[in-house]
Amino acid sequence: MTFKKKILCIGAGYVGGPTMAMIAHKCPQYKVTIVDINPTRIDQWNSEKLPIYEPGLKKVVTATRGKNLFFSTEIEKGIKESDIIFVSVNTPTKTFGAGAGMAADLQYWEKTARQILQHAESDKIIVEKSTLPVKTALAMERILTSTNNSIRFDVLSNPEFLAEGTAIKDLEDPDRVLIGSRETPAGLKARDELVEIYANWVPKEHILTSNIWSSELSKLVSNAFLAQKISSINAISALCEKAEADVTEVARAVGMDSRLGSKFLNASVGFGGSCFKKDILNLVYLCRHYGLEDVARYWQGVVGINDYQKERFVMNMMNAMFNTLAGKKICLFGFAFKANTGDTRESPAIFISERLAEERAELTITDPQALDNARTDLEGVEGNISYIENPYEASNGCDAIAVMTEWDIYPQLDFEKIFHSMVKPAFIFDGRNILDHNKLFEMGFNVFPIGKPPLTHF
Ligand code: UDX
Ligand code: UDX
Repeated sequence: MTFKKKILCIGAGYVGGPTMAMIAHKCPQYKVTIVDINPTRIDQWNSEKLPIYEPGLKKVVTATRGKNLFFSTEIEKGIKESDIIFVSVNTPTKTFGAGAGMAADLQYWEKTARQILQHAESDKIIVEKSTLPVKTALAMERILTSTNNSIRFDVLSNPEFLAEGTAIKDLEDPDRVLIGSRETPAGLKARDELVEIYANWVPKEHILTSNIWSSELSKLVSNAFLAQKISSINAISALCEKAEADVTEVARAVGMDSRLGSKFLNASVGFGGSCFKKDILNLVYLCRHYGLEDVARYWQGVVGINDYQKERFVMNMMNAMFNTLAGKKICLFGFAFKANTGDTRESPAIFISERLAEERAELTITDPQALDNARTDLEGVEGNISYIENPYEASNGCDAIAVMTEWDIYPQLDFEKIFHSMVKPAFIFDGRNILDHNKLFEMGFNVFPIGKPPLTHF
């Protein structure tokens, strides 16, 4: 079969994998190849057990793999063959040198740009999929035009807005697709080619176009606004606990104002995920770079409240359990940063586990999808930590349960049975407010929700 165009994606991660699978699924006329430097990851994409857990992903991959979707480690060949290249490599926060802890580490990204330049033999459209600091496309253009060869590269920004756990749904029916380009005739022509791909399944009115810097900035700002909503309600949860108000009732009342909206108002143990913290720190760095110290401080506060919320959770546990956790057995329900994913990047459970281990508590961790990642995350942590998939076994003999992830299996468990297997007094710290607190209290548990008065038998 001859394909209309050949698409390459560099980086087979949480973003590149599902996004390209959806393009292949919706556009059988395009050949889509995903390459990665990590051969194990590529082998997993080609196997029955995909490297990431995402509801609905397997079905889309199975339907297209080997037909117009291919996973490979042959990056150079992929570059040579393709007309359009998506770059979806990771861009973690820098851990060294200038901007350490704040700025994005662009080394993989720059290496990828140079690789494209070295191996390209024909004109190409380069699409930034990774979230990047504003004006990174400019750097990409500079690298790609740094030699005198006659090949033309047009760089577009097309940030991905999918959320993990709902990636397939988000890709199939996105609120919007954003495409930023240079406003030159060549830039607009490249933009139209990308619009044409998405128009195969996304209504035209949901495909937004903008200048390239607005597009890059919009991604950072979207994540910053979403995280800000969570930090705002989490800040209020601390006040509710003191003022004997109920944060769920407050959130319901606030969210019914259509100007505010009811989503992203669930108070929690804190937000996690690979994007929020990294993107806000990027925004803060950018503001500082332009001398906007007050603006930088404002956004820094969103990350500050998230750190405060996680620490507050540990301190609440400590105070409730008679100011010592040493030797106590604590079971974490969930380790993923949110439900329906096995991803644990920046999961609040990592910080909470480290702090509890520091207090010399014994930990048992249970999660339906994230135990392998949990083991890796806690590798260097000293202390007694075990990983058990069955929540009944995991909580057996524990002093306390702390809910870290809002998996829908947890509210359905038989808590009578759990209560009888635990050390007394038995504690539950519900970091997601997903359990029936009154019922648990009646069973005999001492219950500590987020942003509501505790229910205790003392
Ligand atoms: C995404 C986005 O692309 C990133 O900008 C965002 O802000 C975080 O999420 P994600 O897909 O979640 O990244 O990251 P990850 O799952 O780590 O995947 C990146 C892949 O790129 C990895 O499989 C890695 O092996 C690959 N990679 C990295 C390359 O193929 N080449 C490189 O030079 C570097
Ligand atoms: C986010 C953005 O939603 C997505 O658009 C972007 O492309 C990538 O970053 P993701 O990190 O996958 O997606 O998940 P998201 O649903 O945004 O949740 C982030 C964190 O916030 C999770 O830890 C979640 O549990 C937490 N959260 C979310 C809350 O604590 N309360 C809420 O009300 C909502």
